[in-house]
Amino acid sequence: MDPALYRRRVEEAAAAIRETTTLDANIGLILGTGLGALADEIEAEASIAYDAIPHFPLSTVESHHGRLIAGRLDGVPVWAMQGRFHLYEGYGPKEITFPVRVLAALGVETLLISNAAGGMNTNFRRGDLMLVTDHINLQGANPLIGPNDDDWGPRFPDMSMPYDEGLRRLAEEAALEQAIKLQQGVYVAVEGPNLETRAEYRFLRGIGADAVGMSTVPEVIVARHMGLRCLAVSVITDECFPDALEPVSIADVLAAAAEAEPKLTALMRALVSGIV
Ligand code: HPA
Repeated sequence: MDPALYRRRVEEAAAAIRETTTLDANIGLILGTGLGALADEIEAEASIAYDAIPHFPLSTVESHHGRLIAGRLDGVPVWAMQGRFHLYEGYGPKEITFPVRVLAALGVETLLISNAAGGMNTNFRRGDLMLVTDHINLQGANPLIGPNDDDWGPRFPDMSMPYDEGLRRLAEEAALEQAIKLQQGVYVAVEGPNLETRAEYRFLRGIGADAVGMSTVPEVIVARHMGLRCLAVSVITDECFPDALEPVSIADVLAAAAEAEPKLTALMRALVSGIV
């Protein structure tokens, strides 16, 4: 798509959202699979269904709600996306990252992301939280392909540290304070929607990843393109050890995400309060 048209759509979406609230927030939250309940903790000033926002994609995954919430979390103003978009839904990389451009247009400078991921590091257990230290993009797709909009960011954005060091330190401190076990590791993004074969898990572990999932990386690429500070936390929903692999259902994944939700909610709350 013509970059000028794409930018106009972003601006139209942001303008429509602006009509529903005067909230001034520079923190954005993307709430992933089964982790939407954090949204219930937000004192909402406005809650906008994605289908009411011009040009927004629609969430097709049952486990993802589709609304943008403007409100306060423990008094701190935030924008929260309850539900996100994935390549496996059939959307392109620019469509799934459209909301990140919109968040930036609304004034977001810090992006906190959660996701569900399969744990390949054998020190990880189902239900653990993992602070993402770095990522590998194996989706065969990139939201920055095509003409570059120089007003947003450079043609060749740096990726030497996609996950902000200060935010990670804050997360470590918050986890320690609240006695939440926080693993750390590299997240590899795949296209999905199927889970991996044993051979694929062995390969992904071998190239340096600790956890695997189907999201987050496109959003972080676009956020970094615009210079936003990023932090991501994965909930380890299944153990992906190739030599002891058990079948996993989406119900298992959602159940693990729901069980870990109180820990993630506590961590995110502490982070949001710590940023200000
Ligand atoms: N693979 C990919 N994505 C996932 C997994 C997995 O094992 N678990 C949760 N999301």
